Amino acid sequence: MSIVAGMDDDSSATPGGPAPDATGHRPVLLHPLIESLQPRPGQTYIDGTLGAGGYVASVLERVRPGGRVLGIDRDPAAVEAARRRFAAATGAIVEQGDFASLEAIAARHGIDRVDGVMFDLGLSSVQLDDPARGFSFRFDGPLDMRMDPREGRTAADLVNEWSEADLTALIRTYGDERFARRIAAAIVRSRADEAITTTAQLRDIVERTIPRRFWPKRIHPATRTFQALRIEVNHELESLNEGLQAAIRILRPGGRLGVVSFHSLEDTIVKNALHVSAQNCLCPPQQTHCTCAHRASLLLLSRKAIKPDAAELAANPRARSARLRVAEKLDDAR
Ligand SMILES: C[S@@+](CC[C@H](N)C(=O)[O-])C[C@H]1O[C@@H](n2cnc3c(N)ncnc32)[C@H](O)[C@@H]1O
Repeated sequence: MSIVAGMDDDSSATPGGPAPDATGHRPVLLHPLIESLQPRPGQTYIDGTLGAGGYVASVLERVRPGGRVLGIDRDPAAVEAARRRFAAATGAIVEQGDFASLEAIAARHGIDRVDGVMFDLGLSSVQLDDPARGFSFRFDGPLDMRMDPREGRTAADLVNEWSEADLTALIRTYGDERFARRIAAAIVRSRADEAITTTAQLRDIVERTIPRRFWPKRIHPATRTFQALRIEVNHELESLNEGLQAAIRILRPGGRLGVVSFHSLEDTIVKNALHVSAQNCLCPPQQTHCTCAHRASLLLLSRKAIKPDAAELAANPRARSARLRVAEKLDDAR
């Protein structure tokens, strides 16, 4: 699986798979997710990545009457749109925040145990297609990339202030970019003339730096650099680690966790977290008796990740790197 998500695909769709909602967002792997989680009337769910609300709407239909779905998103614009979308929807709760803090957010609504948690990582089409957010090299816009534009440092801050060595490490580690060193050097040269403040400036630097014969076939040459910056700007991997542990803790026995990831850095974190939680002992294999006292809290429902089928891929090329992993909370674990 590629470390890089298929972020540059044209999202224009042919018929088939889940239909796009009013915002143009097409929920990825929705049917397998619902089949795996099996939401039922009266249950409580958390969607840690509310986005355009596609998953929330679908789960809400199945937990009513009597059920609730708490949708959380870091992006205030997504939250505002979802508040409008679900204003009249009984059982829908919409909150702004990082899913790493999902337990505290749920507690504000008197929720301390849930029947299911879902994460659909990354960005929505709404965010990717808005030039003002600075996530995409397809449009010119401010080089921002913050999911919550009210906090933290922008991608422009990083490219203008980080050392060449740090930029190289970032682009190599989070972008798996073989030209990381050359791109970082080109960034540093370019910013000496003029600050890099737009997506087009950064895209042009990367395009000029990677020799054309090495341009990747299926993705734009700037995809990896943009992905690396976005992951750092939003501390995405730290949030994912914390969010997964919080989700496992808040599930009631028999409750289910479903996580959709889009590149191998995310999927590896998800896979490892679920596998560790599904093991009864973490002692080294050469040790004859267990001293770690680690006990399994999860049962893996699918050993391998679930991928989009041909119909979904035909309808939504952006789904091509999506992977779903599902697990169930065990009885005596919290
Ligand atoms: C792929 S979209 C989710 C789409 C959603 N499943 C739907 O059906 O509309 C991912 C969303 O998760 C949000 N997000 C990403 N990381 C987050 C985090 N750590 N905490 C909360 N929201 C996050 C993004 O802002 C984005 O809106």
